[in-house]
Amino acid sequence: MTDPAAAIGERLILLLVGAVGAGKGTQADNLSRELGLPHLASGNLFRTAMADETPLGEQAREYMERGELVPDDITIRMFMDELARPIAARGAILDGFPRTVGQARALDETLASHGERIRRVIYIDVPTEELIRRVAGRWICPECGTPYHETTDPPRVPGRCDREGAVLTQRDDDRPEVVTARLGRQVPPMLEVVEHYERAGIVDRIDGTRPIEVVTDDILSRIGARAGES
Ligand code: AP5
Repeated sequence: MTDPAAAIGERLILLLVGAVGAGKGTQADNLSRELGLPHLASGNLFRTAMADETPLGEQAREYMERGELVPDDITIRMFMDELARPIAARGAILDGFPRTVGQARALDETLASHGERIRRVIYIDVPTEELIRRVAGRWICPECGTPYHETTDPPRVPGRCDREGAVLTQRDDDRPEVVTARLGRQVPPMLEVVEHYERAGIVDRIDGTRPIEVVTDDILSRIGARAGES
């Protein structure tokens, strides 16, 4: 495999965009392993802050429980801190951020101030009925955040994380009424983010209904990270 980050000598910042349950977390985990880059997920950062009962977590909780987006100012501050950490020195896979055009502009400006830019935006496209089916069968590792699905992506030992061995749980915001709210409120701003980056000509639309490994291979091919590709 070629190293697309080393190839052009700048951080490889890759965005994964998609609706609730499109497979952003699943693909970000796979890409993180394949590319050796950290997976930075806004939802996981908020859930950790909530579990730790930090002021940030308490601010985020009321919005997440209603299926609403957390306000831009809180989210931008949290995510920029994460992107500035040494762990992201070679680049990062961004999952769930930016999710509004305001967040996208803040990210673009911060990167531009360091002579950097988003390399590619991967939009994982999945029809609504499939999204709802996926979220209903999703189980999560509370330790590392790895998502599983009871039929399409089960853990090796039922009910336990393959990595941590922790007992898998279901997310509070995966209740059907909250999922419906998340889809209704969060898809329109997400599509605006896709349009924002389409104007820059850096979006790849990916058919996310295919098996997980097929989707991963497609993304790797499109960013030129397969052996023999530049
Ligand atoms: P977040 O945690 O980011 O949730 P989300 O975007 O709603 O996305 P999900 O995590 O639900 O789905 P996913 O696309 O990662 O799918 P997954 O890989 O798990 O955000 C939670 C909340 O935080 C938001 O509602 C908001 O309140 C707040 N928030 C977060 N970011 C924010 C921001 N930037 N600004 C403001 N607020 C923010 O896959 C789903 C299931 O399908 C799994 O079970 C998986 O095993 C299965 N699956 C995956 N791929 C496939 C496949 N190809 N075939 C079959 N099954 C598959």
